[in-house]
Amino acid sequence: MDACERGGRTPPRAPEGARACFHDKLALSSFQPAGKSRNGSGAVAGPARAPGISIRERAQGLPDVEFPAGSPRTGERRARRTPDDRHAGVPEPGDAVKVLVTGSAGFIGSHVAMRLLDRGDEVVGVDNLSDYYDVSLKRARLAQFGSRPRCIHVTADLADRGAMESIFAEHRPQRVVHLAAQAGVRYAAENPHVYVSSNVTGFLHVLEGCRHHGVEHLVFASTSSVYGANGAMPFSEHQPAEHPLTLYAATKKANESMAHAYANLFGLACTGLRFFTVYGPWGRPDMALFLFTRAMLAGQPIRLFNHGRHRRSFTYIDDIVDGVVGVLDRPPTGRADWNPLAPDPATSRAPYRLYNIGSGESVELTRYVEVLERCLGLKAQVDSLPLQPGDVPDSHADCSDLEEALGARPRTPIEVGVPRFIEWYRHYHG
Ligand SMILES: NC(=O)c1ccc[n+]([C@@H]2O[C@H](COP(=O)([O-])OP(=O)(O)OC[C@H]3O[C@@H](n4cnc5c(N)ncnc54)[C@H](O)[C@@H]3O)[C@@H](O)[C@H]2O)c1
Repeated sequence: MDACERGGRTPPRAPEGARACFHDKLALSSFQPAGKSRNGSGAVAGPARAPGISIRERAQGLPDVEFPAGSPRTGERRARRTPDDRHAGVPEPGDAVKVLVTGSAGFIGSHVAMRLLDRGDEVVGVDNLSDYYDVSLKRARLAQFGSRPRCIHVTADLADRGAMESIFAEHRPQRVVHLAAQAGVRYAAENPHVYVSSNVTGFLHVLEGCRHHGVEHLVFASTSSVYGANGAMPFSEHQPAEHPLTLYAATKKANESMAHAYANLFGLACTGLRFFTVYGPWGRPDMALFLFTRAMLAGQPIRLFNHGRHRRSFTYIDDIVDGVVGVLDRPPTGRADWNPLAPDPATSRAPYRLYNIGSGESVELTRYVEVLERCLGLKAQVDSLPLQPGDVPDSHADCSDLEEALGARPRTPIEVGVPRFIEWYRHYHG
């Protein structure tokens, strides 16, 4: 059977008229909650003005939006919660929580938000809809949530301190998944300030919100790029990663250090996830699979840096989401046996943990292209180029810690994941 046919699942559909209707939905309140109860009865709770929560959509001056109060169980938990409850551990099945997801209009954030909603959690999404890449794709991702209850989107910039304080104060999330960032390694050459504004100042505001509002667990995105000049493969969280090669990587390394400081000073449970090249439906237009697909379908050449000899742990989005959500349910505790004379970078006496999250298979870019060619039924015209400054030639994830923690690891092969992306791409672009 052809790789394309083996794709299996139907990819997410771009909602009918997504781009057209999003503005209407956003004007009404973006992810307007339907007010459905969470007690399993299916009864509609109504507008829930009191004790509902409202917040002004700061970035666009949109009208107030309402968020219904939590389920009785969530409400009780929150009422009982004290700062000492932060390390509550894995919740009981069905014990829904309110989760703030930053970067909710982004590739990974939209998938994570959807998974949390699917399992019954409440989601407050925050994103500034930056124009780093096609904003209509971000709006289309958000439009998927249009009819979902218990979900709200706030258009705000992480670097806006007042906006972030309001979001935490008004929504009081129990957990935070922080995925918003200025991504991309090459864009920093022309736009260095946005990396520090979004990734460092913005992260400080997230940490402060968690600190002051009793958040029980912050899971934040880091990157395999932090390994930088480190050449010991596969990359392990237990190795030092002190030589980032790009500003993007340096800001992510700074996030790891800042999170550790907050874990130490304020007991904030923090887990950093070092993502390895993520791909899949609703993916990023600045990444290889999207760029190659677009070029090949347009009959244009693709640019293969390092003459295609890069190796990457290409990681399918569903595996990433499994990891993010699995880790979110397991706040770290400090390790009493942590040895300051042989300091392990991945763990601490403070409630802090770092995990790699990436496919255990390192694939050469040329093989990635071959799978894509088979899937599209097209031969790529290749511009073979040298290694770019700041590019890391090889990246291979050691995910044994994540597997030990969750009992699972990213496993989707590119022969399955690439066809799923192509199916989505063709559907989305009509
Ligand atoms: N996709 C990958 O392969 C990969 C690899 C390593 C790390 N990561 C990290 O994972 C996270 C998610 O990446 P992604 O691929 O979904 O990227 P993405 O660009 O699709 O999503 C990030 C979202 O954050 C938003 N954002 C950016 N700056 C913001 C700000 N100042 N305030 C509010 N929102 C802001 C953007 O509008 C975007 O929607 C990022 O932190 C990224 O650095 C991704």
